[in-house]
Amino acid sequence: MKGFEKLLSPIEIAPNFVLKNRMIKAPQSSWRWNEDCTADGSDAIAMYENMAEGGVAAIDVAAILWEPAGGIYLGAYDDRFIPGMIELNEAVHKHGCLTIGQLHHIGPSAGPTPDGLPPISSSTLSEDEMPVPKPWCQAPRGLTVEEIHEKQRLQIEAAVRLQKGGFDAVEVHVAHGYFLDSFVSPLWNKRDDEYGCQNVENRTRIVREIIEGIREACGPDFVIGCRLNGREFHPTKQGITAEQAAENARAFVEAGAQYISIAGYGYGPTPFRYCPDYFPYPEPDPFMEPFMDEYRGKGLWTAVARQIKDAVDVPVITAGRMDENLAERVLEAGDADVIALGRTLWADPWFARKVDEGRIDEIMRCTRCASCEDPVTQPRICRVNPTLGQERQLAAKPVAKKKRVMVVGGGPAGMECACTLSERGHEVTLYEKTGALGGRIKLAAMIKSGGCEEVMHIFNHLTAMIEKSDVEVRLKTEVDEQLIRQEAPDAVVVAASSPYRIPDI
Ligand SMILES: Cc1cc2nc3c(=O)[nH]c(=O)nc-3n(C[C@H](O)[C@H](O)[C@H](O)COP(=O)(O)O)c2cc1C
Repeated sequence: MKGFEKLLSPIEIAPNFVLKNRMIKAPQSSWRWNEDCTADGSDAIAMYENMAEGGVAAIDVAAILWEPAGGIYLGAYDDRFIPGMIELNEAVHKHGCLTIGQLHHIGPSAGPTPDGLPPISSSTLSEDEMPVPKPWCQAPRGLTVEEIHEKQRLQIEAAVRLQKGGFDAVEVHVAHGYFLDSFVSPLWNKRDDEYGCQNVENRTRIVREIIEGIREACGPDFVIGCRLNGREFHPTKQGITAEQAAENARAFVEAGAQYISIAGYGYGPTPFRYCPDYFPYPEPDPFMEPFMDEYRGKGLWTAVARQIKDAVDVPVITAGRMDENLAERVLEAGDADVIALGRTLWADPWFARKVDEGRIDEIMRCTRCASCEDPVTQPRICRVNPTLGQERQLAAKPVAKKKRVMVVGGGPAGMECACTLSERGHEVTLYEKTGALGGRIKLAAMIKSGGCEEVMHIFNHLTAMIEKSDVEVRLKTEVDEQLIRQEAPDAVVVAASSPYRIPDI
C-alpha cells in the first residue's frame, strides 16, 4: 500500500525470526485463558489466531506466569502447560505469524493480596515509601540473594517450557512497576548489595543473569527480547530516566537480548494510569507538563525509543497510541524499527491486513474509553469490538437462509446491527426518522473528544461500513405498524434509543 512502505517492509531480528512487516501485537493481558491457567481450547487461542490472520508479523503473548499467582494468566511454571502452548502456537503459525512469550510476575504492584502476604520486590518498603499511592499498594518484602537466585531459576525453566511449547521467542518483562522493574528502578530498589541500584551493573544484574541463563538453557536459536520502561514518571522525578533506560538497554543487549521493546510507566493517582497511556484529565499533572508536547505529537515513548535506539545495535520496538500514519513517520524518522500495537488491535484485529490492502476507511479505531483497563471487568473487553476474545461464539458467520430484515433506528446500534446482518447475508433495510445516521453519537463526541477519548471514530467507521455494505438506508422514515405490514419483512430489529431527560439547569 502506497504511503506505508516502511510499515509494510520486513525486518530480520534473527535469522529464524524475520518479521514480514513492522507491526506486532503489543503484549496485553486478556484473561481469556482457562481458569486453571492452561491455554488448551481457550478463547485466547481463537483471539490470537484471528489477529494472526489479520496480518501482524508477530504476536507478543502477554503476562505468562513463571510462578503461580492469582488471576487468569497463561502458566509456564509446570510442564502441564506445554500442550496448550503448542495448540496456541500452531494456530498462530498457520497464518505466517511469529510468537513471543512474555514472562511475567507482578511483584510489588500486586496490591492487597487475599491472603494478606506481602508482595515480593527488590526491597522491603513501608507503605509510605511506596511509589504507588494508597489504597492501591501493599508494602512489599525484599528478597534475600538466595531467593533472587531461586526466582531466576524459575524464569529460566519457564523459558525452556515456552520453547518446548513452540514459541519463537521469549520476552523478559522488566517494565511497569513489576517484579524485575523493581530492581532496575530507583523508586523501588533501595538495596545496598550487588543487586542494588547504585550503578548500572548492579541494577541490571538480575535481568542480565536471567538472559544469560535462558541462552544457556535454550541454545543459540531461541530469540530473547526484553521489554523495559524507557522512562518512569513520578512526582518526585526519581523514576528511571531516558538516560538510565538507555544504559539498562545496552546492558541487556550485551547479555544477549536480541531486541528491546519500549514501554513506560507513571505512578499517578491510580497505578495503571500511565502504563497503556496517559489521560490528562482534567489537566495534566504538574510533573507531566514537560512531556505534554511529546505526548500530543509523536507519542509518549517515541523520543525515548530514539535515545535507546542510538545506544544499542539491535531492533527497537515502540508502542503507544499508534495509527498507521504515526507509525510510518516514527519508522521513517528512524526513531524505532518495529511498532507494537495494543488497543489498536483489540479494536480491530485486522488492522495490519487493512493497511496492507489499502482498506484504511474500514479500520475500527480504539476510542480510548479505557474499558479494557478496568481491573474489575474480567475477562477484558473492548467497547468497539464486542467480538474480542469471543471470536468463536460471536464472529459473523454466513447464514443458511436469507431473511428480509427491517432495522429501526439509525444510531450506532442500528448501524452496527444492519452491517452485521448484511455481512451474514441477509437483505437489510435501515430506517432512520431524522435526516442523518449516527443518532446521538455526535452529541457524545462533542463531550468526549479532542485529545482524550475519541468517540467520532465510531461514527466514521460505521458510516464507511454502511456505505460499503448492501444495506439500504431510508432516512426521514418513521417506522409504524402500517409500514411494517406493507413491507412484510421476516424480522424487525428495534434499535431505537430511549428518550433522554434534559435536567432542569
Ligand atoms: C488492558 C491492557 C493490558 C496490558 N497488559 C500488558 C502486559 O501484560 N504486558 C505488557 O508489557 N504491557 C501490557 N500493556 C501495555 C501494552 O503492551 C502497550 O504498551 C500499551 O497499551 C500502549 O500501546 P497501545 O496504545 O497500542 O495500546 C497492557 C495494556 C492494556 C491496555
